[in-house]
Amino acid sequence: MKIIRALTLGLLAGFASNSTFAEPTKLIFSHVVGPNTPKGKMAVMFKDIVEEKLPGRFEVVIYEKASLMSDVEAVDAIAEGRIHFAAPALSKFTNYTSKLKVFDLPFMFPDMESVTSFQEGFMGRLLLTSMSDDNILGLGYLQNGLKQLTATTHFSEPGDLQGRRFRIIDTDVLKDQFLALGAEPVPIPWPQTFDAIRAGQVDGQENTWSNIYSSEFYRYQPHMMASNHGVLGYMLITSQSFWTGLKQEERRLLSYALDVALQYGNAVATAKSINDKEELRTMRGIELLEPTKEQLATWRQVMVPIWQKYESAIGKSIVDAARKHSG
Ligand code: LMR
Repeated sequence: MKIIRALTLGLLAGFASNSTFAEPTKLIFSHVVGPNTPKGKMAVMFKDIVEEKLPGRFEVVIYEKASLMSDVEAVDAIAEGRIHFAAPALSKFTNYTSKLKVFDLPFMFPDMESVTSFQEGFMGRLLLTSMSDDNILGLGYLQNGLKQLTATTHFSEPGDLQGRRFRIIDTDVLKDQFLALGAEPVPIPWPQTFDAIRAGQVDGQENTWSNIYSSEFYRYQPHMMASNHGVLGYMLITSQSFWTGLKQEERRLLSYALDVALQYGNAVATAKSINDKEELRTMRGIELLEPTKEQLATWRQVMVPIWQKYESAIGKSIVDAARKHSG
């Protein structure tokens, strides 16, 4: 009897401290884009599921549009355990690993199916743990889409970019890609990119249909080419110490919420790639060039030779696996 009473009191005490007095633990999710993007929508879906499935236990606090920090800073913050989740572009991990540069190699992936197939394969899964020595754990991949080129004035041939300034994410692969084209790469963090484009500090940039449309780059760079020359995807990351410190049931539910949210975000990415391109194509004042196979081959010819320089830093087995999935 005494035991039952003690247990009941214990349960009641636990109940009271969980639901009446204790505040939900805040889980910080920092990202840099707006709400109407694959990443923005994915984050909200994650929050909704977590707060519905674990009421009172967690509150997911989303900081969007770099309102807390840039995504390069977010990678450091994850490593140091200062925030819980982020989904930086795959190009933004260069301070921690060279392996993910495989995603920056121009014309590596002909379509999003080959990107997904690589990421879901053995090597793609392995890359999720490529930064675990630095307390950064990948929990999954999120897509945005293939990258396109935009510029202030008309272009159609690689030579047309000669001497023109292009905004890039700050990585050596993307620098070399634009140097090969005779253009001047200008690394600009995402939060400053719109202002730089509006102020005419750059003549062009590369990004997905979704980012070009949702961030309104087209207003200042109305000439664009469906080059599909690169891929913009994200790795959903967490602090390994935070993740392994969770109770098993909490981890299971957070994993479930992430899986569902990532699937949703990837479906949004696919739909937005089609819809936002169509919005741009039909917009007045936009020149959207669909290059022929032959035209595209001239771009490939200039850009693909830079692969050689990076193969050993990335790892031959990783590059080979990506090529295998790319057909
Ligand atoms: C960029 O800097 O171009 C991208 O990383 C922005 C994004 O979609 O996160």
